[in-house]
Amino acid sequence: MTPTGKFQKLTIRKMVESDLSAVEALDRASFNDPWPDGSFAYELKPGQPNLCLVAVVGENEQLVGAIVVWLIVDEAHIGTIAVDPEYRHHGVGLMLLATALLQAAELGATASLLEVRAGNTAALKLYYGLGYEAVGLRAGYYKDNHKDALLLTNPRLDIEKLKKIAGQSQGRFEDNLV
Ligand SMILES: CC(C)(COP(=O)(O)OP(=O)(O)OC[C@H]1O[C@@H](n2cnc3c(N)ncnc32)[C@H](O)[C@@H]1OP(=O)(O)O)[C@@H](O)C(=O)NCCC(=O)NCCS
Repeated sequence: MTPTGKFQKLTIRKMVESDLSAVEALDRASFNDPWPDGSFAYELKPGQPNLCLVAVVGENEQLVGAIVVWLIVDEAHIGTIAVDPEYRHHGVGLMLLATALLQAAELGATASLLEVRAGNTAALKLYYGLGYEAVGLRAGYYKDNHKDALLLTNPRLDIEKLKKIAGQSQGRFEDNLV
């Protein structure tokens, strides 16, 4: 649902089991090669070394974004991030990513990495804006169309910048929806 002229508060919180069907629907709406059935449920199992967050709006907590980050020693590996197509370009992706990286840093991450489809302009702009840089290419990485993946790293998480962005993004989202 598109927000209609009325302010709706955006909240970033932990993903819980009751979010799973909405998260899977978002994943299917966002990717040609969505995660296999049960993948998100697996991520929510106790003891997994990850962070699973969602972005929700309104009193009924409509799910508009999700991110999964794998914590591997001192690295935060972005497993997936997606925003509801109706809510893109309002800073939701930026806020999800900045919030997840801040939480990862609290858990000991100092750097981040991810694979992104070559040509995914929206995602690349988001990542480059947060300090990621391309350091390699994985040829034919994606199973659906054998497109190449770029390997991006953010070698030193800038905590102050992330805090600033997370705060500003909330404001930007509100401005855009009023
Ligand atoms: C990538 C994605 C998560 C971005 O979410 P979003 O909420 O639209 O992103 P934001 O509004 O926070 O935008 C962040 C930056 O990206 C830019 N951006 C967002 N969408 C863009 C687009 N389609 N084209 C160009 N730039 C775009 C914004 O302008 C912003 O840059 P700015 O801060 O310099 O203005 C979203 O497009 C998405 O879900 N895509 C499908 C799934 C996907 O590809 N995930 C990434 C897998 S690696």
